[in-house]
Amino acid sequence: MKDAMHQVTVNFADGVSRSFSVAGEASILDAAIEAEIPLLYQCRSGGCSSCIAQLAEGEARTRPGASSSLLASEYAAGQRLLCLCQAQSDCTFTLPYGSEVGSSVAREVHAFIDSIERIAVNVVRLTLELADDDWLEFRPGQFVQIEVPGYGVLRSYSPSSTLADLPRLQLLVRLLPGGAMSSYLEEKAQVEDVLTLRGPYGAFFLREEHKRAPHIFVAGGTGLAPILSMIDTLRQCGGKKPPMLLSFGCATPEVLFGLDDIELRQQWLPTLEARICVDREPTEGLHHGSPVSALREGDVVSPDTVAYLCGPQPMINAATARLIELGVAAENIFSEQFVASH
Ligand code: FES
Repeated sequence: MKDAMHQVTVNFADGVSRSFSVAGEASILDAAIEAEIPLLYQCRSGGCSSCIAQLAEGEARTRPGASSSLLASEYAAGQRLLCLCQAQSDCTFTLPYGSEVGSSVAREVHAFIDSIERIAVNVVRLTLELADDDWLEFRPGQFVQIEVPGYGVLRSYSPSSTLADLPRLQLLVRLLPGGAMSSYLEEKAQVEDVLTLRGPYGAFFLREEHKRAPHIFVAGGTGLAPILSMIDTLRQCGGKKPPMLLSFGCATPEVLFGLDDIELRQQWLPTLEARICVDREPTEGLHHGSPVSALREGDVVSPDTVAYLCGPQPMINAATARLIELGVAAENIFSEQFVASH
């Protein structure tokens, strides 16, 4: 029997709507790509959540047998990963980003290493400069993939720098014993080495439409990188700056990093408050506990508050629950799981 065709409509956050047809058994994302609809995606296999959308009308299900990173409660609330999703009737989805976002197609570029600077026992600040004929646009919060020379593997990093810093890109790399990028940086990398980058990727980025609203940032470890890029982008925007709260944490004072960067931004931005947290052995001025435990009653004063979370999944889950409890709307919470890979 021939597959039934359904009409799918996607509504972007900037008011643009696009419709396309999809066969019942096909993935909605595949049909959208075919129809040149600018949707965000990356893995196409249910693992990255880039293609998340909210089902507003109609019926659509996850392909039977597919494993998705969505929680059962998110699925029940109508969230779908379009790469795994099949339409069972005509349906409409709302997307958490504008129609111009997905149109910045990932590209491959080359960059030279400008500097390799150890800024904590296990963190390196890597500064790159794009090769003369190459250019890479990204939104603050998005990530790029780098081919690790000599190891044949890709690693993902979110720039801590902004578009205004291009052709320079700054990345924070967490060093892991035996990790491919860590071994390369510690043993082989030299200034002027050429790296191959691909990007931008990811649906975690600063939402321009909320830029005047109060912001809460929660970062764990090198999850600080995209958050610094967001804070700097807000700083570079003209006009009055929104109130911003940064809660940033590491395991111990010994592995803390980026404090100078944060302090400098506080000098530039009087509306930025920072809470620096450590899980163990706190010294003076540091909050004892996770960056989530540093959030308190009274931090959310406006229903428009928007929050960006980047760090390990348990931190994101705890921060999301806490922020909702404090009064942030679930749809105003954006997050990216940070996974350190070997
Ligand atoms: S594209 Fe990665 S989950 Fe759909």
